Amino acid sequence: MNITVSAPGKLMLLGEHAVVYGRPCIVAAVNERLSVTIEEIDEGKIIIDAPQVKDTRFVDAAIKTWGDGRGLRISTKSTFSGKYGLGSSSAVTVATLKALKPSVDNRTLFDAAYRIVFDIQGKGSGFDVAAAVYGGILYFVTGGKIIEQMKIDSLPLVVGYSGVKADTVTLIEQVVQKKKENPQKVERIFDAIAKLVEEAKANMLESDWERVGKLMDFNQEYLRDLGVSSDKLEQLISAAKSAGAYGAKLSGAGGGDCMICLVSEDKRKAVEKVIQEVGGEVVDITANAEGVRVEQ
Ligand code: MEV
Repeated sequence: MNITVSAPGKLMLLGEHAVVYGRPCIVAAVNERLSVTIEEIDEGKIIIDAPQVKDTRFVDAAIKTWGDGRGLRISTKSTFSGKYGLGSSSAVTVATLKALKPSVDNRTLFDAAYRIVFDIQGKGSGFDVAAAVYGGILYFVTGGKIIEQMKIDSLPLVVGYSGVKADTVTLIEQVVQKKKENPQKVERIFDAIAKLVEEAKANMLESDWERVGKLMDFNQEYLRDLGVSSDKLEQLISAAKSAGAYGAKLSGAGGGDCMICLVSEDKRKAVEKVIQEVGGEVVDITANAEGVRVEQ
């Protein structure tokens, strides 16, 4: 047996942090992929060659789940750099599980991969796992209570990397702390985020990017209130808005990694230019990619 499976990375569009607490978010799979090749070798032997994956515990756990004692050589390749926070842990977990059991249905695959990611990280809503499995643009509620494919042709997106690597678990912890100190305020913020995610869902289906941009701005204000933004992210966000973006926000846990904005095509070049001028790196990715797939 020799099989290669690939899974996409993701970008959080709206609803981060609140989605850890039972609220919805909107996530996009992106056109950067991580692929896993599995070859059966002598029984009992496991060889893992995964230079792009900084933590092989995800691959180990996938083998434990569906490896069935087979001897395996596992190698990975990725078209994206781990530095952007595009979700290489969830992509490698999903791709490895699918390669071990190619006939698995998406729901069973999501549940198994989410269990692995949650056990290792101890936290997380599973939105990244859903993007890797299903692809496209998803309306997603914590733990996969709802996973709904949104029919959207394309998203006028620009992505800027802040140059700072963020640690998701630390940022989730920071919000836990904030919620302990001021539970009512933080619950109100989560409710407000949930409301704007619902509105954005409807607006996205109508391609009303101007309104979705506004909602991104509101979402960013709430994320700032939660204390997860950073000076660098704010710089990139205000530069993008000053060059005419419909709206801009951080994407993911915050503290660093990427910001995203929506732009009209005539403003795209100007927005990309100012992001670079303030020290950001424009990341060349598009949203709405296919979910996990068997390559050969
Ligand atoms: C991190 O990219 C997004 C968070 O909402 C965590 C999660 O949903 O797992 C902060």
